[in-house]
Amino acid sequence: VDDLKPWLVEVCEAVDAALAARVDGAWPTAFGPALRYPLFPSGKRIRPAIALAAFEAVGGSSREGAVLLAAAVELVHTYSLVHDDLPAMDDDDERRGRPSTHIAHGEATAILVGDALLTEAFAAIADAPLPAEARIQAVAALAHAAGFRGMVGGQAADVGLGGPVTDVETLTRLHAGKTGALIRASALLGGLAGGASAEALTALTTYGEAVGLAFQLADDVLDAEEDAADDGPPAFPKLLGVEETQRRAEAAMRQATAAIAALPHPERLRDLAWFAVHRTH
Ligand code: IPE
Ligand code: IPE
Ligand code: MG
Repeated sequence: VDDLKPWLVEVCEAVDAALAARVDGAWPTAFGPALRYPLFPSGKRIRPAIALAAFEAVGGSSREGAVLLAAAVELVHTYSLVHDDLPAMDDDDERRGRPSTHIAHGEATAILVGDALLTEAFAAIADAPLPAEARIQAVAALAHAAGFRGMVGGQAADVGLGGPVTDVETLTRLHAGKTGALIRASALLGGLAGGASAEALTALTTYGEAVGLAFQLADDVLDAEEDAADDGPPAFPKLLGVEETQRRAEAAMRQATAAIAALPHPERLRDLAWFAVHRTH
C-alpha cells in the first residue's frame, strides 16, 4: 500500500490530461468553464484508478486506450454528481467543499453540463486506440452501468420510485445500481482495454461488484456522524449498526481481493480495495 499514493498521483495526472483534452474547444466559448468546473479540481478519481489498476492487473499494453476508458467512466461519474446536486434531486449547494455546478453556473447550464459530460464519455471510448471489439464491449458495459439497469436505476430508487427502502436487501440493490454499477464498469473497462480473457473479465466483474459494495458501506460509516437525511433511503448503519456495517465492508474487501488473486498483477487492485474501505473521505 506504501506506493499507492504516488501511483494515484500519476493516474490522476494522466486522467486529468485526457479529461481536459475531451472538454477542450467547447462552443459557445462561455460553456467551457462550466464544463470544466465539476471536473477540476478533481475528486478522488477512484473509478479511473480502478480501471487503470485492472488494466495493469491483466498485463495490458495500450495505456493510452486504458486512460481514455478510465476518463470515460469519470465523465459519467461527474455528470451523475452534477445532476444529483440539482434542486429537483438532492438540492445540494456544495460539492467537494465548494459551490455545486448549478450554484456556480446556474441550473440550466448545470443540466447541460451533465448532458455534455455523459455524451462525451461514449465519444471518448469510440476514439480510444483499441481494437473495435474492445471499444464496442466497453460502450455496452458503460451504457449498461450508467443507465436504468445501473446508476440511473439506483438513483430512481433513491428518489423513492420503488417506495420506501426499509430492508438491507433492497438498500443493497439500490446501491448496487447507484454506486456499484460504475465501479464494476471501471474494473471491466480496464480489463477490456488490457485485452483481458473472458475468465479475467469475470474475475474483474466480481472484484468490481465487491469493491462497489465495500465503497458504499465505508461511505456510510464515514457519514455516520453526519445528520441522516430525513427523506430518502436510510444509510446502512441505520439498519445494521456501525460495527456490522464496518464488518461487512471488510468482508466485501476480502471477497474482492480473493476474486482477482489469480490475475497476473493483482497488487494494485488489492491496494485499491483496501483504500475503498480505509479512506478518510
Ligand atoms: C461520491 O462518489 C458519490 C457516491 C457514489 C458515493 P466519490 O466519493 O467517488 O466522489 P468524488 O469523485 O471522490 O468526489
Ligand atoms: C450520489 O449519491 C451518487 C450518484 C450521483 C450516483 P449521494 O447523493 O448518496 O452522494 P452525495 O452525498 O451526493 O455525494
Ligand atoms: Mg447527493
